[in-house]
Amino acid sequence: MKDAIARLRLAFETAFVTAFGPELAGTDPVLVPASNPKFGDYQANVALSLAKTLGQPPRDIASAIVSALAIDDLCDPPTIAGPGFINLTLKADYLLDQLRASHQSDRLGIQTVAHPQRIIVDFSSPNIAKEMHVGHLRSTIIGDSIARVLEFLGHDVLRLNHVGDWGTQFGMLITHLRQVAPAALTNPDAIDIGDLVAFYQKAKQRFDNDDDFKEQSRQEVVCLQSGDPESRRAWQLLCDQSRREFQKIYDLLDIRLTERGESFYNPMLPEVVAALVETQLLVEDSGACCVFLEGFVNKDGNPLPLIVQKSDGGYNYATTDLAAIRYRIGTDQADRVIYVTDAGQANHFAQVFQVARRAGWIPDNVELVHVPFGLVLGEDGKKLKTRSGDTPKLKDLLSEAIERSRTDLHNRLTTEERTESPEFIGHVATTVGLSAVKYADLSQNRISSYAFSYDKMLALQGNTAPYMLYAYARIQSIGRKAAVNLSQLDSTQLHLSDDSEWMLLKHLLRLDEVLEAIATELMPNRLCEYLFDLSKKFNQFYDRCPVLNAPDPDRTSRLLLADTTARTLALGLNLLGIQVLDRM
Ligand code: ARG
Repeated sequence: MKDAIARLRLAFETAFVTAFGPELAGTDPVLVPASNPKFGDYQANVALSLAKTLGQPPRDIASAIVSALAIDDLCDPPTIAGPGFINLTLKADYLLDQLRASHQSDRLGIQTVAHPQRIIVDFSSPNIAKEMHVGHLRSTIIGDSIARVLEFLGHDVLRLNHVGDWGTQFGMLITHLRQVAPAALTNPDAIDIGDLVAFYQKAKQRFDNDDDFKEQSRQEVVCLQSGDPESRRAWQLLCDQSRREFQKIYDLLDIRLTERGESFYNPMLPEVVAALVETQLLVEDSGACCVFLEGFVNKDGNPLPLIVQKSDGGYNYATTDLAAIRYRIGTDQADRVIYVTDAGQANHFAQVFQVARRAGWIPDNVELVHVPFGLVLGEDGKKLKTRSGDTPKLKDLLSEAIERSRTDLHNRLTTEERTESPEFIGHVATTVGLSAVKYADLSQNRISSYAFSYDKMLALQGNTAPYMLYAYARIQSIGRKAAVNLSQLDSTQLHLSDDSEWMLLKHLLRLDEVLEAIATELMPNRLCEYLFDLSKKFNQFYDRCPVLNAPDPDRTSRLLLADTTARTLALGLNLLGIQVLDRM
């Protein structure tokens, strides 16, 4: 109901000036949703906050404002309650018109923003030659949902995969492979990613224990960085192999990303150091180039340095992120850059952002924001492990969700004595399984850690994907039984009588506020809460109001409500990266 809120704000501002003079222009009406539906829809608390400034009792201020308020076309006459709250109830006709408009629009009446921004969402970003882990799964799911919401609102979104494709790990990996499996460096199909990870672990072990190997690996990094063709070819091959594995996960999860890994910024790293020299922020400290940070101290209370060039001349993760900031602002022209990683990287981003800010690289109108998330735990509250005690592989985790969802479906079909085609079973099992994983992640406040439980995420009851998908499918079946074209219902028939219908309608009209809040706060769980409430409000309505057996105009009116609910569910779930099912 952004439209109603905007109109109320405007009417209040005019009323302040009419009642108290131009000095009050621009005063915030302090509009909040009513604490209880019986008081109306919104409540303005401004009279209380103005009492001091104006030196008058708040109730008197409230009545002066109410007399000057011109909102007859939008609200019933406002009432004043308690010490001076102004209660506002939207007119039934206004609400019905809004619902009609939203039913007729393919965007459910939600407008795109007046001033679209160029927004970069940096998410997923796994590391080459390492397995994608559940942390990357969280980043992928949360980042995708944030990107979808921003895109839907009309922003120009660039989804960037900042893969870890550069650095010392390649030196050791190439050196090790050259000795034990040289074919892997020339033949793209010689090894698969699972082996690559094992090779990487072995290489790391040798690097930590064998000085000769360490030195050879260092040389290899130098070769790679100086562009030696053979090293480059080997590196390219390793990256391609990882990339193919990552892509399988992205395809399965329906994720679109533009890869722009760390190596992309490699040529820009010396400029970062040079530019920092110019700003005089750069200090040499035991051979390394660094910037001393404000607000970060070591255990002796001295300022902590952010190293941008090591004493051996090498650069690091932070240098790359500084280069990326310069590129994203300078070349990509981003207004906002959103980084989705685990909370463990909060300091890294705070430090890098600070240095970029002090260097003067971030214009006032550009926002850099880290979107942190907590850990994925096992059901025992400890680190997620497989039965054999290993870190689970992402593709195994997803296949298991699909398999369990298939078993659930088989059981349900048997109980309901239904036979369905293998295609139907495959499609439903896959959609439900993957949606369950996504929804379980997104429905949590992302900052907290959560316990990964197949049983909970696949449950048909509660705030889960299967419950939401079922709510949608149920309305579709009402539509099929009604045997009418839902998109062509005559919206002039809309008229409500029961309270549950009004509650549902008002909730439906709130989607725009929720999406706006998500675009600002970057908390997809708010959308899950909204959708869960929506399905509960729909159930209350459906329990109380007959639909299919009601005589017209009730029947049409209720079908309109049901159809708008279904489309709102479909849109909301789609913004979470979840495809709805007409039947399940
Ligand atoms: N590759 C990193 C990791 O796996 C995440 C990169 C996040 N993005 C960034 N610009 N630093 O932890």
